[in-house]
Amino acid sequence: MAVQISPSILSADFARLAEAAAAVPNADWLHVDVMDNHFVPNLTLGLPVVESLLKATSTPLDCHLMIEDPDRWAPAYAEAGAGSVTIHAEAAKAPVRTLRQIRAAGARAGLALNPATPVEPYEDLLGEIDMLLLMTVEPGFGGQKFLDVVLPKLRRARALVDSHGGQVWLQVDGGVSAETIERCAEAGADVFVAGSAVYGAEDPARAIEELRTLAEK
Ligand code: DX5
Ligand code: ZN
Repeated sequence: MAVQISPSILSADFARLAEAAAAVPNADWLHVDVMDNHFVPNLTLGLPVVESLLKATSTPLDCHLMIEDPDRWAPAYAEAGAGSVTIHAEAAKAPVRTLRQIRAAGARAGLALNPATPVEPYEDLLGEIDMLLLMTVEPGFGGQKFLDVVLPKLRRARALVDSHGGQVWLQVDGGVSAETIERCAEAGADVFVAGSAVYGAEDPARAIEELRTLAEK
């Protein structure tokens, strides 16, 4: 599958989100980190901001829900028009139902795993998802150091996805930069979230192309 880059607006200026979206016309997705200060120790934005962003950009939104009650909220993001909605396995109480509701509302359904959450228990859910997100930092903040400890799991996830026909995209999120993206690509990731590496750069669109080139190598 072609490499996809999903810049995270968590590292952008929250008072200028439309401009942040416009600054990356070459992005495949815009990654939107929804945090509730319960599942993670940080608070960001929610459905109203996503609804406004949907009107402000034609780039599809990749909504990453780091919230305690994704079963309650995830379908609403899909119904609002998000292109992709990802819920955390550690938080969802009824993941199969919620993932099906996301798909039924017309969005891609994603399942996210924290660094210490093993992938094997979720093998039987691969048919229910369009994307598996492996966190490469502990979720909650941008600008953290990439956790190499996740790479063996990424390789195992690649093998599991391939054995199921390879329809599931494999996303990495956290500490992805020009220094780490090649390791992720080599281990099997095909969708790359990057916050500080894109919005911390002088030219965010150019940073995306540099990341893409490194991942395609
Ligand atoms: C962290 C978020 C990430 C974050 C990544 O919990 O899920 O999407 O924005 O930021 P960087 O790329 O700076 O690590
Ligand atoms: Zn994220």
